[in-house]
Amino acid sequence: MAQPLPALLRRRLEKAARAAAKNSYSPYSKFRVGAAIVAGSGKIYAGCNVENASYGLCNCAERTAIFTALAAGEHTVKAVVVYTPTATPTSPCGACRQVINEFGPAALIIGVCDSAERIETTLDRLLPHAFGPANLEPAAPKPRR
Ligand code: THU
Repeated sequence: MAQPLPALLRRRLEKAARAAAKNSYSPYSKFRVGAAIVAGSGKIYAGCNVENASYGLCNCAERTAIFTALAAGEHTVKAVVVYTPTATPTSPCGACRQVINEFGPAALIIGVCDSAERIETTLDRLLPHAFGPANLEPAAPKPRR
């Protein structure tokens, strides 16, 4: 189950996501996204979307934040905040849901924007019946005798 976020941590996360959106590299979509996550250690990591002239290589803000956390030695994701400078909040795309599932299958997911509207849910609600690391266990090679 996702743990409720203390109010101060929630404010810090939202602030970090808003700040990260300023660094968005999105010349093609012009859709700025900032994300901030709380990792297992309790630290916050932020990221923005990074696009590419070869469109298929675009990386979402959520994955930038998660990969930054992993590169810093984290192993789990407790909460993800996505900020877009829009009138309605954005929730993680399918690819990001799958990546969040790898490190935080029950993570709290929050979407905030420039209006009071917000999304507050959990990854298991966004990605029911997810495929994850446990599904590969039956396929693991058995030790040879
Ligand atoms: N994008 C994100 O960064 N996160 C989301 O949750 C939705 C989409 C980015 C990808 C691309 O750079 C742009 O938004 C338009 O799809």
